[in-house]
Amino acid sequence: MVLRSSHWYAGDDRNSYIHRAWMRRGLPRDAFDGERPHIAIANTASDLTPCNSHLNEVADSVKQGIWAAGGVPLNLPALSIGETNVRPTAMLWRNLAAMATEEMLRANPIDGVVLLGGCDKTIPSLLMAAASVDLPAVVLPGGPMLTGRFRGVPLGCGTDVWRLSEEVRAGTLSREAFLESESSMIRSRGHCNTMGTASTMACMAEALGMTIPGTAGIPAPDSRLLERSHDTGRLAVELVREGRRPSHVMTRASFLNAIVTLAAVGGSTNAVVHLLAIAGRLGVELNLDDFDRTGSGVPLLVDLQPAGRHLMEDMFRAGGLRAVLNEVADLLDPSAITVTGEPLTGSLAGAEIWDETVIRRRAEPLLPDAGIAVLRGNLAPDGAVIKPAAASPELLRHRGRAVVFDSVEDVYARLDSPDLDVDETSVLVLRGCGPRGYPGMPEVGNLPLPAKLLAKGVRDMVRISDARMSGTAYGTVVLHAAPEAAAGGPLARVRTGDPIVLDVAARRLDVDLPEAELAAREPVMTGHARPVRGWERLYVDHVLQADRGVDLDFLTGSSGDGVGRESH
Ligand code: FES
Repeated sequence: MVLRSSHWYAGDDRNSYIHRAWMRRGLPRDAFDGERPHIAIANTASDLTPCNSHLNEVADSVKQGIWAAGGVPLNLPALSIGETNVRPTAMLWRNLAAMATEEMLRANPIDGVVLLGGCDKTIPSLLMAAASVDLPAVVLPGGPMLTGRFRGVPLGCGTDVWRLSEEVRAGTLSREAFLESESSMIRSRGHCNTMGTASTMACMAEALGMTIPGTAGIPAPDSRLLERSHDTGRLAVELVREGRRPSHVMTRASFLNAIVTLAAVGGSTNAVVHLLAIAGRLGVELNLDDFDRTGSGVPLLVDLQPAGRHLMEDMFRAGGLRAVLNEVADLLDPSAITVTGEPLTGSLAGAEIWDETVIRRRAEPLLPDAGIAVLRGNLAPDGAVIKPAAASPELLRHRGRAVVFDSVEDVYARLDSPDLDVDETSVLVLRGCGPRGYPGMPEVGNLPLPAKLLAKGVRDMVRISDARMSGTAYGTVVLHAAPEAAAGGPLARVRTGDPIVLDVAARRLDVDLPEAELAAREPVMTGHARPVRGWERLYVDHVLQADRGVDLDFLTGSSGDGVGRESH
């Protein structure tokens, strides 16, 4: 087998001399003999992505494994996105990170790659990049943090921030106590410990077959993560020698397995846009209806926040993802393989549940049907999603008056006004927060409840938007309405007072008005002005809608690993 890196290093001409000479720097003489795969470690470690800040230590163990298997490890810092820090929203930068990593994987003399991610957008962007380049690749999730406690009560990252802050607004918790809880929220290194987007995407990577089975969910401080990191480094070398690429692993069968997994773990709605985007990079047929069809009837087995009570540390000690998948093994496609070359279903033998209060048996699920529902109607002709597992059952069929907000700023300006004409039967509608409108489709779809209703004890209302929602959030929240208002979607024509009808069982989302009346209205094209320059300009001009994964139109499809020219 001729290694890809040999196209840089082999030969006796001036160019190969340059490639070798500048890379030597203490590497062993046989590092360039054409026998040893060069493995990049695409590393999203960053102090400004605190959920990934421990990945350099993880990378060291990966390196040891690569050396042990006869490869040559090479650290490749990758663009890192810290969910809680970057403005205006992390999602705006996912495609930039994916594009930057894709180009650097292709441009460099490497034969395979280990993908190190953790925080919400890092694993999706790395998988999108690897799918586009299609070099042998394996994901190593950085793992969740340990459970913090405040006043004896476990704290779920994100989920409990939303809960506690609503308690403050409702007057049932003091601001002092709220701020006191801050230092207890993040107990250790690692990503959020709820079944939020980071945990979900680690599980998705494993369900897609892109991790060594049993890796997703190993807590970040657990020494077993470093052991698995070593194994992952070894496997990356093997992947190159066997020629196993992401396109061999991430087939349509794998994506359908990921959708089953998403339902069984009660995962984040954000996985919908990320899986659609990854599939789009591979040319795998996958659409919104696959989520509804394949997830329908899959039971919720994991009792984790935000849908349940426990946290990722509990899931790991209870048996981890393999134990969950073993319970739904009959729903998984046995043709899908993992990076090991073996079927995903074949890796589940012997997986046991050690705590049935955390991971339920199939016969005693938390919910019998946990799939994400895809709604259509005159408010979302191209689809919208809702996570019934995180919603109030009594609101899944609801008719109410719209209270419309044109932007996040509009929400903050008016939501708590005593004059806001709203009651608990109202439907809060937020527009101007889609991919193009914000831009970047922020996690604001779970907009807060009006203070005067909170004071009355109301804890959930129907909310509809073209935005996303944090995977740690909950409520009867309809998201990702497509097309978005800023793209001329029907949300732009809704007015306060309009009757909105939500019927999740019928998969409908409508405004109960004659089509002619809606069509005659002037759309409110909310959203910021077209950016003048830079990434935002490129993004707004090319971003696809939520039903297409919010990728850029020119990034769908794969370009492979070929580079036609020498480096000059
Ligand atoms: Fe990074 Fe939650 S903020 S994983």
